[in-house]
Amino acid sequence: MDKNGVLVVGSANMDLVVTSERFPNPGETVFGKNFAMFPGGKGANQAVGCAKLGAKTHFLGKMGNDDFHDILVKSLADNGVDIKDIIVEKNGQTGVALISVDGSGENEIIVISGANMKFSTDDLITKKDYFNKVKVVLCQLEIPVETVTLAAKLAKENNAIFILNPAPAFELNDELLSLVDFLTPNETELEILSGCKVEEECSVEKAAIVLLEKGVKNVLLTIGERGSILVNKNGTKRFEACRMKAVDTTAAGDSFNGALAYSLSNGRSLDEAIRFANYAAALSVTKMGAQTSMPTLNEVEAIL
Ligand code: RIB
Repeated sequence: MDKNGVLVVGSANMDLVVTSERFPNPGETVFGKNFAMFPGGKGANQAVGCAKLGAKTHFLGKMGNDDFHDILVKSLADNGVDIKDIIVEKNGQTGVALISVDGSGENEIIVISGANMKFSTDDLITKKDYFNKVKVVLCQLEIPVETVTLAAKLAKENNAIFILNPAPAFELNDELLSLVDFLTPNETELEILSGCKVEEECSVEKAAIVLLEKGVKNVLLTIGERGSILVNKNGTKRFEACRMKAVDTTAAGDSFNGALAYSLSNGRSLDEAIRFANYAAALSVTKMGAQTSMPTLNEVEAIL
């Protein structure tokens, strides 16, 4: 069968976003500027990011049967994501994220997982046919790690590229790591996963090698507006990004991962795919919201 496109297995959240000039200190109250709700969740954001660029994108996730479910499903569908097999937990609660954004566009996020953490391996096995249709499978860590591990196994059994965005990070078992083609942490996540402090480029390499030794094929570290660093058996390579004025950095990592999955499914070389993902992520910080900030193919090509 001719495989194409991307399967995202992951979370969906309704993002409740407040903006303020600065974050309050613990115990302090500050006045904010705005409140708005945006469709979010790392899995759904990455699926939208990928679909907006033009990839055939399928999303598998679990939500409650509430109003947030309806808004999130609409956002996914309006952006071209195939959502016909989303799982609904009867009487469940759709995931929610409380997000604060400060004057420099930096964010703080608290996630209430709800139905996302009820996405079981039994749920996923009923959808296993998706894995032999696609070129790339993309996961994050906002659903149970057992379900992510099963997704990784199914991806490898079906010769698909498996990308794991290890966010939010925690120490991962060796079985899962050995199935990962591309691991895409940021600096904090790399420290948690490797157990090594990451302060400069040589320590990035050291930390990444810990993970390569556990079977990860490529560690692709995102370093915000400075771009990304690829470490694999061929060595270490730095990829620059372009600097944009940040309004809201929420989901920049999701934009990077969606764009990487799109590019790899589209047959771009690895270098081209990483450069493309850096530019997509740079554009995503120029708009408010998660899925609302994912760029289109024309927008990325215009700045490349
Ligand atoms: O990566 C950004 C996302 O993290 C937000 O959309 C929020 O829902 C949390 O999952």
